[in-house]
Amino acid sequence: MPTTSELKARIEARLNEGLRGQWYPVAKSVEVTGATPYGTELLSQKIVLWRDADGAACCVEDFCPHRGAPLSYGEVHDGNIACRYHGVMVDGTGTVQRVPAMPDCAIEGRKALRDFPVREVGDAVFVYVPSAERPEPPELPLPPELSDPGWTGFLCTSTWQCNYRYALDNLADPMHGCYLHAESFTLAFGSKQDLLELDRREDGFRVSRVGQIGENFDWTDFTLAEGGMYCFLDIPYPPAAGPGGHMRILGYVSPMGPRRCRVFFWRMRKVEGWARESWRFLYRMRLEPRHWAVLEQDRVMLEGMPDDARRREMLYQHDIGVAHLRRALNRAARAQIEAEDAGHGKGVAAE
Ligand code: FES
Ligand SMILES: [Fe+2]
Repeated sequence: MPTTSELKARIEARLNEGLRGQWYPVAKSVEVTGATPYGTELLSQKIVLWRDADGAACCVEDFCPHRGAPLSYGEVHDGNIACRYHGVMVDGTGTVQRVPAMPDCAIEGRKALRDFPVREVGDAVFVYVPSAERPEPPELPLPPELSDPGWTGFLCTSTWQCNYRYALDNLADPMHGCYLHAESFTLAFGSKQDLLELDRREDGFRVSRVGQIGENFDWTDFTLAEGGMYCFLDIPYPPAAGPGGHMRILGYVSPMGPRRCRVFFWRMRKVEGWARESWRFLYRMRLEPRHWAVLEQDRVMLEGMPDDARRREMLYQHDIGVAHLRRALNRAARAQIEAEDAGHGKGVAAE
């Protein structure tokens, strides 16, 4: 039976790796093709994506059933992936389809690899990682910005060399906007002192500045839905940035490895007709490089922090969003581990 401190260590390890039982975006749709496999990592597991003969995205472990070569080094033929090493072909369910070097080979027809459920939405490919509590994928939770055609936008993604929790903490921390991004096009306004407040709701929370709304990056709204987590925030725009009101940023963070994550940010406006086209044009021509510059400021800061910063940090009032988010993740990790133990007939003992 695990002791309380063993349980704590396992919760911390699970949190560091990333929660299971979630849909995560792992690639832009254009990165996943029917010609060249796309290798990446999710929750410290190497995975490979490609498109089958119908154009549907598939995802399996990035491991050749023959001797373990990365399938992502191979090629796609007729919707199957062919390993570069000796040509073994695997389909989207992780079953060996053909061993071209050996007629009637016994491994043909064997389901050899884990496959992962895949969905595509908003120009991104999402993959589901099962948990003991949710072995089957729930619906992919979709924010209105990705399901309502009134919204339009651009997906921008980046791989950051830091644990995903730093990227989430950063999003739950509106007070960094007026310091870290003080020199930017859109975030240079507003006061540099404030208090923060938290509004909790059933499926998430909003952390907001008390004294300032609508001037800078003043709040973030997190949804911790069953099967996925995302957040959004609004960036007030000066009139020079075109029609459509505030720009909304919808954000997801996908854990890759202990020191790597990929952020997915959709920059969006709810704007229609000619104004939509004019904003999209303006965004491509003028706004995108400015947003990249802001995002790079976040990346550089987070990558510069030590892996164990939380062991020495001294939180203050402005970190209520960070603390609340960490507690929610902690509870979810604990529930996952307890469900796994219950499945194996283990209980948790008091120390
Ligand atoms: S390792 Fe892939 S075919 Fe041999
Ligand atoms: Fe930032």
